[in-house]
This record gives sequence, structure tokens and C-alpha cells, in this order.
Amino acid sequence: MRLEKFIATSGVASRRAVKRSIREGRVTVNGTTVFIPGHPIKVQTDTIEFEGKLVKPLTHRIYIMLHKPAGYITTRHDERGRPTVMDLLTDLPKSIYPVGRLDLNTEGLLLFTNDGQFANRMMHPRHEIEKTYLAWVNGVPNNRSLDRLRNGVKIQKGITSPAKIKLLDANLSTSETISDKRNRNGKISKLRISIHEGKKRQVRLMFKAVGHRVIRLKRTRVGSLSLGNLQQGQYRYLTPAEVKDLTG
Ligand code: URA
Repeated sequence: MRLEKFIATSGVASRRAVKRSIREGRVTVNGTTVFIPGHPIKVQTDTIEFEGKLVKPLTHRIYIMLHKPAGYITTRHDERGRPTVMDLLTDLPKSIYPVGRLDLNTEGLLLFTNDGQFANRMMHPRHEIEKTYLAWVNGVPNNRSLDRLRNGVKIQKGITSPAKIKLLDANLSTSETISDKRNRNGKISKLRISIHEGKKRQVRLMFKAVGHRVIRLKRTRVGSLSLGNLQQGQYRYLTPAEVKDLTG
């Protein structure tokens, strides 16, 4: 990158003022005064001082949402070479990472960022960010089961916090779901469930606790952000307003 561009984009002075300072000998690169505004620098390793002060690169914060398809692992790198969510993010800096995780076979809204503070805020249980899922399960949960899910059920990692749950459709054919060999002729229900926690496999374990197997799971909403009509496998940048709404 050119010296003057690096300094100007870090926000310390306008491009014109930066050029003037360089020409007047008030800028150093690794301790040596440089008089040429276009002098090439290495952002990662060179130390640049502008009028005696260290210039820090402006880290460009990135916020992305992906519509994750089933079959991708939520990790930055898989030692066994299996497809990961990173494979779906082309042309983006390597510094971004997933915020939380979705299971291999869970679909839907997954956030990515390079902003550690944002990631912590989104994941910390203290902030109780609500996540909403569509779940297709075998059979039809009765009212008692739905109430148990609402009030808290025992899963491996303790009792779950109160959840919102709504039975959306109790008589689906398998065509609206994935082909489910174990359930070819059985009934399938579609439910919407909202939880605040993020225990591993939580939704699947909650339904299991009341005797229903999740056949398909899709996250449609995280806090104020919804998946909308983003197509499977596609991603987009969040708008500044969306980032602001998420972090409150
Ligand atoms: N609950 C699950 O069971 N799986 C997910 O991927 C997310 C929530």
C-alpha cells in the first residue's frame, strides 16, 4: 500500500495534509524519514510515525450473514478436509470467523465477523439474544409436550430456560421436508421455537426430551435480524443499522 493512502485511511489527517507532511519530512517508516508520498509500505509489518505519533491501521470491521445449507461444518478449518462454512464465503478476508455455531445438518442464519467485541456480545448468555428456529419433527407433539418445552426440559446439560414454541403445521407430508427414510409414512410437524441459550444441539435435545426427533432444523432469526429471502448458500453484509440493532 502507498504510504500516504495508509496514513490518510487510518483517519489522522486528510490526504492532502498527509502528502504535505510527508514531503516536509515529518513521516518515518521504520524510523527512517521518507519524503515520497507513494512510498510502498507493508501494512502488517512496517512501523509508521506521522508527526511523531504511531499510525495504527484502521481495522475494517466486517459483519456478514450466511444462509448456511445443511452439510457444512461450522469451523474455520477442518483437519479432515470436510466442507466448512468458510468454503461458502468467497472473496472475504480470512480474518472473519463464525459467531457461535450451527450443527452440521442445521440450516439457516449464521453470522460472521472480525469484531471480537461484537462476537462476545452476541454469544454471551447475559445478553439473552433470542434465536428462532423452524423445526420439522416426527409425530405431533401434544399440548403437554409443548408446555414442557415452554417451561424447561432436562437435557444433558441441565434444565433449559423458558422457550417460546408454536405448532405451525401438524400434518405435513414428507415432501415438505428432507427425505427421511426412518419416517417414510409417518406424520411430520413443523414448529417454531425461540430460545435464548446456546447449548450444544439444544433444540434437537429439547425435542428428544419430549419424544420427538428433529428431522430438519433451520435458524430463521437471531435477535432483531431475520434471514429474509437470502438464498441457501448465499451471504450478504449487514447494514450499519442492522449491526446497531443487534448490539442494542
Ligand atoms: N440447536 C440445535 O440443536 N442445533 C443447532 O444447530 C442450533 C440449535
